[in-house]
Amino acid sequence: MRPTIFDNSRPGVSGVCIHDPEFSTDAPTQLIDAALLRDQPLGLPELTEIEVVRHYTELSLDNHGVDSGTYPLGSCTMKYNPKRNDAMANLTGFRDAHPQQPAETLTGVWEMLSHLQRYISELMGMDEVSLQPAAGAHGELAGLLIIRKYLQDSGQQHRKIVLIADAAHGTNPASAAMAGFTCRIIPTTREGLMDVDALKKELTPDVAALMLTNPSTLGLFEENIETIASLIHDNGSLLYYDGANMNALMGLARPGDMGFDVMHINVHKTLSTPHGGGGPGGGPVGVKSFLRDYLPAPIAKNANGVFVPEYDLKHSIGSMKAFFGHIAVMVRAYSYILTMGPDGLKEASENAVLNANYIQAELADFLPPVFDKLCMHECLLSGNKLSVSAYSFAKRLIDYGIHPPTLVGAGCVYFGEDLKSAMLIEPTETETKEDLDDMIAVFRRILSEMKNDKDMVESAPHLSPIGKIEARAKEVDSDAA
Ligand SMILES: Cc1ncc(COP(=O)(O)O)c(C=O)c1O
Repeated sequence: MRPTIFDNSRPGVSGVCIHDPEFSTDAPTQLIDAALLRDQPLGLPELTEIEVVRHYTELSLDNHGVDSGTYPLGSCTMKYNPKRNDAMANLTGFRDAHPQQPAETLTGVWEMLSHLQRYISELMGMDEVSLQPAAGAHGELAGLLIIRKYLQDSGQQHRKIVLIADAAHGTNPASAAMAGFTCRIIPTTREGLMDVDALKKELTPDVAALMLTNPSTLGLFEENIETIASLIHDNGSLLYYDGANMNALMGLARPGDMGFDVMHINVHKTLSTPHGGGGPGGGPVGVKSFLRDYLPAPIAKNANGVFVPEYDLKHSIGSMKAFFGHIAVMVRAYSYILTMGPDGLKEASENAVLNANYIQAELADFLPPVFDKLCMHECLLSGNKLSVSAYSFAKRLIDYGIHPPTLVGAGCVYFGEDLKSAMLIEPTETETKEDLDDMIAVFRRILSEMKNDKDMVESAPHLSPIGKIEARAKEVDSDAA
């Protein structure tokens, strides 16, 4: 294990040397009441500045990121963010803007946000968008709060059930529960699609909405979308679209046109911004016109040529974030959209789908696809033919500088054992064919290692700072004994 910064500490060593006669070390103590002063040293590590810089630089190099190598974990964590988007967010007009500045000095920011709302609405096929939510899950919560308030206002407060696919991201049931709904789970068929017969059985008068992810978290396009949309609307319920996977559909298909009423997108997946991990990211929520006034406020609006925040949305669920949300994230999304243009966005989605299908086809002889058909932006490959677990196989990838893909557990009730050892690979659109071929070659190499030295593969990774967590746990146990 690498020593911690506390292990490296040496008493008396200091990282700063300030020669400033105005700054006397006695000065602060005179300003603070003696009773409030600490009587023990703080216990901070004592090192020189260069030691601290090297320590943290080394730690950062231990981390595998999309900037350091192939990353089949995909956009869910974060796809590649073009550096020019960071440069745009760093323009002084955006970077130094303060939310409490007079509104008339922020019109440029509001103009940018207004254009972004329009572009995202266009991608979604929705009528209006609020950029307030701070993450995909936050966008889900906003969307469900909108649905709840709309149902209450229209005398339908008895609708308390939200239907969710068993393959959905865990945030879907969590958001529904936080918004005060009870969840009912709809199973997935052998073909990887929502089970329409099971859905029909759940369509009772107390159903508020169906949450559907498309492409699904299994990497498939939901083929029965029109039937599902009619069933839900005929039941008087609303349709919520988890648009986290819109990166497969930009410029190709729009949830609004499929009949959805409310949706969010994850800007880290679709529009190349940093993933906030539930924090400083973005999950714009879009709605059809009948729900516009329920959006979280403020939204940007063009008031006779002057761009301003609009707060007085009649039925707004309120604000989801302080001030205007995460502007610096939105500048990146805006910059991405402008630089790509409509054709570029469409091409990005096409390449994301092409890359995933290329991987699926090239690995099929030993990692057959769980679903025998074309996939969308990610492919689900079964590890059942491997003589080691998909987990061990994935961990060996680390030794070759490749991040392990997502490992899928038995989430969908119909699959059980089939999905116990599956890998979900999302190469994203930015990987070149050469990168994909290198990754495929590494997969094949591990396949032959598995035949010749199974133990070595099972005990991988061997070249990372920390091995498997369970191996480390055993080490700690035996040290303790
Ligand atoms: C399908 C799906 N829904 C929801 C989320 C939650 O988004 P976030 O992590 O931004 O909260 C994710 C994660 O990226 C996702 O893949």
